[in-house]
Amino acid sequence: MATMDIGIIGMAVMGTNLALNLADHGFKVAGYNHTPEAMDRFLATQPPKNFQGFYKLEEFLQALKRPRQIMLLIKAGEPVDMMIRQLTPLLEPGDIVMDGGNSFFKDTRRRHDVLAGKGINYFGIGLSGGESGARNGASIAVGGPRMVFPVIQPILEAVAARAGSPEEPCCTYVGADGSGHYVKMVHNGIEYADMELIAEVYLMLKYAGGLDNLQMSKIFHSWNEGGLHSYLIGITADILAEDDEEGGQLVDNILDSAVQTGTGRWTSIQALEQGVDVSLITAACDARLMSNIGDVRAKAAKLLQGPRYVQAADNVWVEKVRQSLYVGKIIAYAQGFSLFSSASKNFGWQLDLAKIAGIFRAGCNIQAIFLDKIMDAYTRNPALENMLLDEFFLQTINKYQQSLRQLNCQAVMLGIPIPAFANAMQYLDGYRSTHMGANLIQAQRDYFGAHTFERVDKPGIFHHKWQKHY
Ligand code: 6PG
Repeated sequence: MATMDIGIIGMAVMGTNLALNLADHGFKVAGYNHTPEAMDRFLATQPPKNFQGFYKLEEFLQALKRPRQIMLLIKAGEPVDMMIRQLTPLLEPGDIVMDGGNSFFKDTRRRHDVLAGKGINYFGIGLSGGESGARNGASIAVGGPRMVFPVIQPILEAVAARAGSPEEPCCTYVGADGSGHYVKMVHNGIEYADMELIAEVYLMLKYAGGLDNLQMSKIFHSWNEGGLHSYLIGITADILAEDDEEGGQLVDNILDSAVQTGTGRWTSIQALEQGVDVSLITAACDARLMSNIGDVRAKAAKLLQGPRYVQAADNVWVEKVRQSLYVGKIIAYAQGFSLFSSASKNFGWQLDLAKIAGIFRAGCNIQAIFLDKIMDAYTRNPALENMLLDEFFLQTINKYQQSLRQLNCQAVMLGIPIPAFANAMQYLDGYRSTHMGANLIQAQRDYFGAHTFERVDKPGIFHHKWQKHY
């Protein structure tokens, strides 16, 4: 009997937590895993009655109401293609397959097109919030066939986080084919930049300010009460207050090397392909790479000279660090949202940037009070060229830019690496610059390769026979 509302394929952390969330909301959930062990483990936890586990794919599919709604929560890459190959001959036209993993958006576009040819509706679901989001409410960006979205909307909205007043589900249709996964990818890129900025603040407070972990924890906690209120600032305050059972404080005993699963890197590569500057996201990826060569850094620390000394922090200085973080954050988000604008045009997605900011307000790692401001900015002007030009952000940047400048100068003089803040400063000064020196670059290109140039005083394309003067 086909009585189950939704089927989940993949009974690992994300799949089981989403199954429980769906079951809590009264949906009848069928589960399947390609190996029996994960299903055995989950069934041993005695899931609610409206969950039913299956060991055979055919039986799982038979149990689903038509059109079938199937959510894949499996490892991105080849496993998704493999599962689709197994599923396709068993599905019927009109069935719906959703990929809730961190798939690369170009794979999603390809899968969407192949399945569309067979009458199967394929959605790439940008599901943010990790385990706790899946269990308690996620941020959900949906990409796929618009006309079919109303069918999956009630289920997805039920398991989404809530934000705003009146509360709305953090779930929206963003556009066709791979756009949902694109939104998730850029979300993660912004997450990298946000985390890197916070890590650099930590370095500055510790080495320029001479503050200890508890003092820093209190500062982050107080910042979390104001305009910087966000999930990442909140967890940073907690982390810095955490003792290690084995002695000392846990943050001091964690290896100084940050790994990555790759979505930040995808964002950076994709931005280069789109011709959009996301220097803070790239800086965050590079900083993780630099962190990974700890042995080499330890050797180099003894060989390469540079200053390193501590100055005392006072409240005025700490406030300047806060202001710098605020400007850095604005620029990181401005870059990420510029990438959305460009991708929207190039892929024909018509992304609604206010709605995207809206779904990031709860359930995901970059949730922040600040996202209301981004939402307001794109609601005021959906065609806003760059977030920096919105009236609220302009005012804030103009008020705080001097602090960002001072922080950068101080870091350089003290020899403290803050690449994300340095890139924020450079982006800001580039963006407000009327002269970038590119006239000289064009002249060089024309000199060595007859690549031509345009002139400031008349239209046309020109080449010059450059003289050798020396
Ligand atoms: C989410 C997160 C999730 C995860 C990142 C971390 O919303 O579920 O963004 O995707 O936290 O994958 O990425 P790295 O492992 O690359 O730091």
